[in-house]
This record gives sequence, C-alpha cells and structure tokens, in this order.
Amino acid sequence: MTPKEAYDELVARVGELSLLGSSQAVLEWDQQVNMPPGGAELRANQMSLLAGMIHDRLVDPKIGELLAQVEGSELVADPDSIEAANVRELRDAYNKETKLPKELVEELNKTVSLAHLEWTAARKASDFKKFLPWLDKIVALCRRKAEAYGYTGEPYNALLDNYEPGATVDEVAAVFAQLRGELVELLGRIRNAPHQPDVSIVERPYDLEKQKIFGEMVAAAMGYDFSCGRLDVSTHPFTVGLGYGDTRITTRYNPNRFNDSIFGTIHEAGHALYEMGIEKREFFGTAIADAASLGIHESQSRMWENIVGRSRSFWVYFFPQLQRMFRQSLEGVTLDGFYGAVNHVAPSYIRVEADEVTYNLHILLRFEMERALMSGDLKPADVPGEWNRRFKTYLGIDVDTDAHGCLQDVHWASGLFGYFPTYTLGTLYSAQFFAAALKEVPDLHQRFETGDFLTLRNWLKENIHRHGRRYRAKKLCERVTGRPLSHKPLMEYMTAKYREIYGF
Ligand code: CO
Repeated sequence: MTPKEAYDELVARVGELSLLGSSQAVLEWDQQVNMPPGGAELRANQMSLLAGMIHDRLVDPKIGELLAQVEGSELVADPDSIEAANVRELRDAYNKETKLPKELVEELNKTVSLAHLEWTAARKASDFKKFLPWLDKIVALCRRKAEAYGYTGEPYNALLDNYEPGATVDEVAAVFAQLRGELVELLGRIRNAPHQPDVSIVERPYDLEKQKIFGEMVAAAMGYDFSCGRLDVSTHPFTVGLGYGDTRITTRYNPNRFNDSIFGTIHEAGHALYEMGIEKREFFGTAIADAASLGIHESQSRMWENIVGRSRSFWVYFFPQLQRMFRQSLEGVTLDGFYGAVNHVAPSYIRVEADEVTYNLHILLRFEMERALMSGDLKPADVPGEWNRRFKTYLGIDVDTDAHGCLQDVHWASGLFGYFPTYTLGTLYSAQFFAAALKEVPDLHQRFETGDFLTLRNWLKENIHRHGRRYRAKKLCERVTGRPLSHKPLMEYMTAKYREIYGF
C-alpha cells in the first residue's frame, strides 16, 4: 500500500466515523428539543451503542498502521498541507482514545452519570457537603485520566488539550493573569461611574412570537441560512453542526427579558456561521472539516453576540425596526437608552447570566481553581471557601449560598475539567480577530449601520472558517492577526466602549 492509498483509506474511515458521530448528534438534538421524558432510557441505550461503535472503530489497530504508513512520507512533508493537518489531528485523536484504559472510561462515565443526580439535588438544597464525596471521586478520576494521557509540566495540561489542542496552562495563565488585573480595575470604574444605564428598558413585556420573528430576522441578516438550518427552543441554547447542509441552533424565550432570546440567538448563530463556513462536504470527517478548537468556536459566537450584537452601530440599524415591533415597551426610549440597557454591567452570582465585562472574571476564578484541584494544591473540601474568597476579590460581592456559588455549573459534576478556560480564550480571540478585521475593513461599523453584516461574515469565512482545523488555534491567531494571543485587544475594545456608555 502506498502512502497515498493509506491516506485515502484513512479519509474513508473517518468519513464513516463522522456519519456515526452526526447520527449521535441528531439524537442529542432531538433529546434536548423534542423528546418526551419517557424516551430517556431508550435514548441512553441508543447513545451508548453508538458511542461504543465509534470508540471501537477509532481504536482499531488498523488506523494506527495506516497512520504509520503515511507519517514521514512525502505526502505530509509540508506541515501546513491539508494532508499533514488531517494526519496530525487523526494521530492525536487515535492516541488519546487508545491511551485511556477501558476500565477508567467506564468508571468515569458511571460516576458522572450518578453524580449528575447528586449535583442537581445538592444545588437545589444548596448543600455542598452532599456533593463533596462525588467531587472527590471525580477529581481523583480526572487526575488519573491526566496521568493516562501523559503530560509535560502539570496534569491540567493533559485535560486542557482535549478542548484547546496545543494550548498550555502556562501560556493561558500568563494571559489570564494580565486580563484579571485590568478587568477588576475596569469593573471598579464602571461601578463608580456617574452615568448608569436604565436596565429596566429590557425587562419589560416582550411578546414571545415577536421575539422569535425578530431573532430570525437578525440571524438571516448575519448570513445564517435557514435552508440549511433551523431555530428551535431548548432549556440551554446550543448549536449543533450535523454535517454539510444541516446546522441547527436553539434559543430560549423569556416574556419579560428581552436579552435572553436575542443574544442567545445571535450567539448560537455565530457558532453556526462557523460550522456553515467550514468546507465539510469534500473533506467530511477530516480535521479540516472540523472546528479549530472550542476557543476558536467561542470566538465566533462572542464576536457576534457582544462586539457586533451589542454595538451601537448594530442597533442604529435594528432599533427602529425593534421599536415598531414593540411599541408599548419601547415607547419614548432613545437609541442610546436602549444601547446602554443591553450593555448594563453589574456583578452577579450566576455565570450564565453575567454581562460581557464580569463574565470573564467568573471564568478566571474557575480556571484557577480547577488548575489547583488537578495539581492537588486545592482539596475538594476547601472549594466553597476558596470560591467565595476569590469571588469577593474579583467581583466585589459576598456569595450568599453555594447554589449561587460553587454548585452552579454542571461542568465539574460532568468531569469536564479543562473546559472553562475556552470561554475566555474565545472572548480574547474574538476581540483580536475583530481588531484585525477592522484594520482591513475600517468601515465595518458604518456597514452595520446600513444592515450590511455579510462583509464581516465573508471576512470571517475567508480568514477563519474555511480553514477548519488546518491550523491549530495558536497558529491561526498568528496568521490572522500577526500576533500571539494577548489580553490587550479585548481590554482596548471594552475600555473604549464602556467609557462612552458610563462616562468615566
Ligand atoms: Co458558545
């Protein structure tokens, strides 16, 4: 078998793996959008059969043999070629999947599925002690997982690499530490500013049907293609890229909170544009038909949600239409009043409800704590005290209950250590990418004012989306922006924006 034949065989095999994966994704989408509660057990069995099939096919030693035949050959000599990228990423996935002992995977799956119920109950009762034995177990299992993967430096690196391939904890922590200092300072200036926007404007009655129509209008203006997607309702908004021609999004509606559905829709449509912009049909299943990383994915959603969707120019275009749709709630409201209301900043307990400024402080706290949990510097029993201490330092408020504190997120109960930092990496990438787009297209905001969002969408497609995972996040960032990731573009963008709104 020539290297080319071995490569073609690999591409055919991952194409089938991806068909199985997308079948799994259809079932997951159905579970969150349509499935009656009674279907839970059947669905769990369907999912576990598919997961087993995918695992078995991925760890097939034949994959290892085929990889070995291609690696080192002329075909992958140029590290930036499509073939080299596909082989690099498949090798990484194969190694990860084969390194974990079956017994550890099963133990972890069983533990997190039981822990989920205990976490739900503990959060409801706001009783950390109820959850502590489970957190102890999960932390120990995740540390074993890191050992099985192997790592340089500290164990957290092995886990982070699952979500942000190629990122290292030292690099991430260095950028985050600078961000944290400047964010805490910015938050202080905002809180003490003379002008505070009237947030009640977006907390009036907003008819659900009209919210839906408005959300669809905005998504379409962004370039979301409804012939290749749909917008549904789910408890937690999400995007699922099923493959070529089918990328679905969800949102949730609150009749008395305008922000929930619209910014949820814009966020998910941002994720969806990325999925829709990746060339999937030709390379289905390979790395370049996949997103670069969770951080890069989140950069797309956060750019559209915050930098575009919460910009003044966006609302110059959309506010008059919105005002016509919601005459009563928006009567007498000015563009600036509305713009201030959608950018209201206030420290609050719950991460998923946090504004653009405080959100990252929620993440930095979690990142620092899970890093310490994985290294053993922090004991699970000390989590609430440590959480509350950091929360007070970063956000300036005392946590009243563990339900509003360390019990609020599902991530640790699900064993997803290493996931949180991708949210802030995404935010940082979003600002750095947008600054690069502005350099090339300086009148982007004037274009938004006239309803032209496709210029930005096309720029993103050309520079980011179409590459898929051809370049890893770090390299993609340097190619697109000419620099390594930095906290500066985000701080410059936020400082200018909030100075104008809050008048400090
Ligand atoms: Co997201």
